[in-house]
Amino acid sequence: MEGLAIMTSGGDAAGMNPAVKYSVEYARSLGYKPYLIYDGLRGMIDGNIKEAKPDAVSGIIHRGGTILRSSRSKRFFEYDYRKQAYDNLKKLGITKLIVIGGDGSFRALNDFYHDFKVPFAGIPATIDNDINGTDYCLGVDTALNMIRGNVDSIRDTANSFSRAFVVEVMGRDCGYLAMTTAVTSGAEICLVPELEYDLDRIGNRLRPELENGRNFLIAIVAEGCNMGDYLTRWINDTLNIEARLTILGHIQRGGSPTVRDRLMASKFAVAAVDSLHRGETCNIMVYRSGDFGTLPINRVADSPTPVDPDLIRLCKPLSR
Ligand code: F6P
Repeated sequence: MEGLAIMTSGGDAAGMNPAVKYSVEYARSLGYKPYLIYDGLRGMIDGNIKEAKPDAVSGIIHRGGTILRSSRSKRFFEYDYRKQAYDNLKKLGITKLIVIGGDGSFRALNDFYHDFKVPFAGIPATIDNDINGTDYCLGVDTALNMIRGNVDSIRDTANSFSRAFVVEVMGRDCGYLAMTTAVTSGAEICLVPELEYDLDRIGNRLRPELENGRNFLIAIVAEGCNMGDYLTRWINDTLNIEARLTILGHIQRGGSPTVRDRLMASKFAVAAVDSLHRGETCNIMVYRSGDFGTLPINRVADSPTPVDPDLIRLCKPLSR
């Protein structure tokens, strides 16, 4: 029986567990012997690999994070460690891999393929939603709902205490989480790396509102702007309303996967197993304009992430 191993790698994201479950179950139904690699690339090097018995993936669909755990491994960049990882797979008869993670993990598996010809299929999973070629990455919907709940709570206290709140959200260099949050939470200000901002114009826009009875403000700032502290002080000093900064941090990565993340995980998983079963070698599963498909890793890793033009249009007025 051919071995097919599943791993999660890079920043954890909700939806990873449902993707693991469906990959295991669908691979088994096609006649593969499924394996689980624990601790990501590090576990592949250290041989932390176990056969996936049916009970290994039962009762995990609702759990956040990843039961396989994850890591970012520097050792995997060195050939000798990749060779060690290959020997571990070979010993167990594993000839195909599914990696659930971000583009850094896909690139690492691509190097591995070029060394040892072990085909892999990538399932995009990162709350940042910054993988080129796919409109959706697992974990994004859960993260957005987590952020929404927190911003709704912050608005309660902002309104009650007549304050401004600057809320910094994750996303690395990508403003997707911040822009979507700003639109869906009715924020007054949104600063993201993709948009030039103009504090003078923001001041001119909001001052009359504050003078006419507005008693609170919500500003959403992407971590990639590195503006949280500065904007908080600027609002406090320039707009004459007491301001506080809330950095949501890693809370955004946790939580039970939403229905959308569970369903997308099941479809990505089936697409990944099918891709390997068809004999494809280095493809990433993508979801574009409502359809599932595959893209070769080079098209995913080597191009910049396009910005959603609708979100840009909606958020531009909030950045000036
Ligand atoms: O890529 C996911 C992400 O959560 C980013 O949004 C954030 O910048 C980064 O990972 C945080 O990394 P770490 O968990 O290593 O602090």
